[in-house]
Amino acid sequence: MSKHEDSKTILVIHGPNLNMLGKREPDIYGKTTLDEINKNLENLGKKLGITVNTFQSNHEGSIVEKIQDAMEDCRGLIINPAAYTHTSIAIRDALLLVDAPIIEIHLSNIYKREPFRHKSMIADIATAQISGFGMLGYSMALEAIATMI
Ligand code: DQA
Repeated sequence: MSKHEDSKTILVIHGPNLNMLGKREPDIYGKTTLDEINKNLENLGKKLGITVNTFQSNHEGSIVEKIQDAMEDCRGLIINPAAYTHTSIAIRDALLLVDAPIIEIHLSNIYKREPFRHKSMIADIATAQISGFGMLGYSMALEAIATMI
């Protein structure tokens, strides 16, 4: 089914080290695990009539391939590229293939942190950016996409 028919599928991509949420620097990223974030999004998706697919990888090329595979059918993309935010032209170029709203998300406020985190390779091509709301940011992103599609 193409995205112009009526399946509302959203893809949520989590970049490197986000599989360690809960254990990883909890004072910065919180104690919620990635599994809990994903379950929360799937439940919210049910209420909004949206199918939420989630994907995590520690590998840049796998993220690029996932974006390429999703570009035809996905009606919206929520992506936390994690450290690749600051470095990856490859992920940026893959996102340019996507003809759907893209929300860039960060658990922490990247602008309050080290200067190397202030630069995002995708901020200027994303529909919007959410940074610093912790796990709440993911629900905000999904609610926002639901109103757009
Ligand atoms: C992050 C911020 C990035 O700078 C960092 O490399 C991450 C997580 C966030 O969600 O706040 O891994 O994207």
